[in-house]
Order: sequence, then structure tokens, then C-alpha cells
Amino acid sequence: MKHAWNAALITGVLTLIPLSAQSADIGVKQAHLPDKLVVGHRGASALRPEHTLAAYEKAIDDGADLIEPDLVSTKDGVLVARHENEISGTTDVSVKPEFAIRKTTKTIDNIPITGWFTEDFTLAELKTLRAKERIPANRPGNTAYDGLYEIPTLQEVIDLAQRKSKEKGRTIGIYAETKHPSYFQSIGLPMERRLVDSLHANGYRGKKAAVFIQSFEVANLKEIRQMTDLPIVQLLSARGKPEDFRLAGDNRTYADIASVSGLHEVATYADGIGPEKNMVIPRDASNRLGTPTDLVKNAHAARLLVHPYTFRPENPFLPVELRLGDPASPSQRGNLAAELEAFLKSGIDGFFTDDPAIGRAALDAFPKGRGK
Ligand code: G3P
Ligand code: CA
Repeated sequence: MKHAWNAALITGVLTLIPLSAQSADIGVKQAHLPDKLVVGHRGASALRPEHTLAAYEKAIDDGADLIEPDLVSTKDGVLVARHENEISGTTDVSVKPEFAIRKTTKTIDNIPITGWFTEDFTLAELKTLRAKERIPANRPGNTAYDGLYEIPTLQEVIDLAQRKSKEKGRTIGIYAETKHPSYFQSIGLPMERRLVDSLHANGYRGKKAAVFIQSFEVANLKEIRQMTDLPIVQLLSARGKPEDFRLAGDNRTYADIASVSGLHEVATYADGIGPEKNMVIPRDASNRLGTPTDLVKNAHAARLLVHPYTFRPENPFLPVELRLGDPASPSQRGNLAAELEAFLKSGIDGFFTDDPAIGRAALDAFPKGRGK
């Protein structure tokens, strides 16, 4: 990291923050974030129940440069941090008798889902719920925190990032994702304007702000580009197509978006891509890390940053050669650092990880400038 110094305005306080080098001439140059980025995926979700203030704070304490709230809407139009609008997998809503009648079945992104949905609850009602671990078989230690934490609002996540930025003397960014944007538009609760207005109101403005706005859909990112210069990242799945393409009868898939011509189209409205990690280094037939694709090279040629997801420490999420101990144990941790090193060598500009402490250590151990 180059230690030029720069004056940064954080929550109205003029603070001296190290100005770091950014990835060559690629993508946006955020004045207050380092060259390569550790993103705390749903917080430090390997160590605390995801999308709680405790998970985000742990991510920051463990060295994340940005924290990642996935966003959905409440009935009264408040953006809250959940991976999906159906909340029985990550809260105690199913054992709350006062909400039993809210259980219902809806079609979300063309898939029928039964459960309880954020858009049927006011913020005050959601605040009576408590978070629980989504994957206790993989993360049994996290169940010790079940029942402790509320669902946070976007504003509470921003407040935490800004408070911790002052406390740590380094900028903690926000990497916000709109979840199911076409669906929320269809029920009269569009999230785009509220997200942009909230970020602007909290001092995040312009291409150098310590923020990324991400989505698996395309149209809502193009809409957001008309509202703001804030950095935008197009998420890419290894399979399928964006939900807005399906709704519009557009035949293109994520593979088309990841093509050379597709990436140049992305560059007209976004600053980076967030691909599923297998699109950068696929697994071979034995489920070992294979040969890197040209995706990083092609994205960089289109002047797009590349932030793949998701790097998780437990064996089931790792290539077989990096699994440790009992291979049949769902909770046994493997060698995530080695997986990250392989991806850093491929030239990525940052990564989403459930365990930012491992991510921080892997990135700090990686020779500066390698992989570019
Ligand atoms: O946003 C990057 C990554 O989080 C996308 O996957 O499903 O965990 O939101 P998901
Ligand atoms: Ca996400």
C-alpha cells in the first residue's frame, strides 16, 4: 500500500486516511480504499449469523475493507439486510405465534416459496425477530449466537461502518446488493431510489466513494446509473440468466454477459463484475481447481474490476485438494488461504469472503503487484 495521505470526510469529520494505490487503470479509483479489496460477505458470516451488526462488526475487526449487506424491503418501505425476502431460514419468525398467520406461498423470481416475507412486515414487527444461523451443520459454533441479534436496517449498517471507520482510522466501505429487484418493483416497493438516496444522504457521492452497488439483474443497475455516479458492480452467475431478462423475454444469459462483447456492454453502466468464483477458476472433473479462464483478462480489457464470490473456509466449499481433516465433516475447515492465493494470482481485484480474517491474511501475504 502506498502511504500518500488524503483528507477524507467521514460522517462530517475531517479525518486523515491513507490514500492507497488502485488496480492499474481498471475500474473506479476509490480514494479511501486499498488496491485489492476484502469484502466481508454478509459480514463475517463464517463466525456470526449472517447479516447482523455483530457479523458486520466482526468482519471489520478481522480486516474487511467493505461490508456487504444484501437488501430487501419491509412493508413500510425500509431497506433491511437479508439475503432474501423469505426469512424463516435466518430468523426465529417460524416460532412466533403472533406471526403464524403471515405464513404464505409466493412466486419469487419464478420459483414458488413458502414462508414469511419481509414485505409483509413493518420494520417495527421485523425488529421483534432475532437472527439465527442459516447453515448450522457447517457452522455449529454460530448457533451460540442464535436469538441474540436483530435484523439491521441499511442505515444501521452504514452507521456501523462510519463509526468503525473513525475507530479504526481507516475507511470501511459498503458493498450493497439489491435482492430480487424486479420482484420488489412488481409489488410497489422498488428499492433503487431509496438505496441511492440513502447512500447520498450519508455522504457517499461520486465515483470515488467507498461504496459499490451490486445486482444480479441488469435493468435496475442501468436505472441506478441514471441516478448516481456511485460505483456499480454487475453480478454474474455461472448458470442461468438475470431475472429481468427472463421477464422481458431476452434470450441472453449470464454467459453472454461474461463474453467479450457482453463485458463491453457492462462497462457502459458498471465499474466491475462480481462473478461466481468458478467463472474465474473452474473446477476440473475431480473437483480440483482447474485452469483460469480469460474472464479476468477480458474484464480488465473492458476496464472492469473483478470481485468474485464466495470464499468460504469449510471443506464442502473448497476444492478437494484444499480440504483438511475429515473430508466427510461439513464443518471441518480447510485451506481457504491457498484457494485465495490461487485466485489472487489470476489477477482479481478483490473478493467476497465469509471469513475476512483469512482473507486479510491471504491478501497481506500476497506479493504486491502480482497477478496484474
Ligand atoms: O453479492 C455477491 C455474492 O454475495 C452473491 O451471492 O447469493 O451470497 O448474495 P449471494
Ligand atoms: Ca450478496
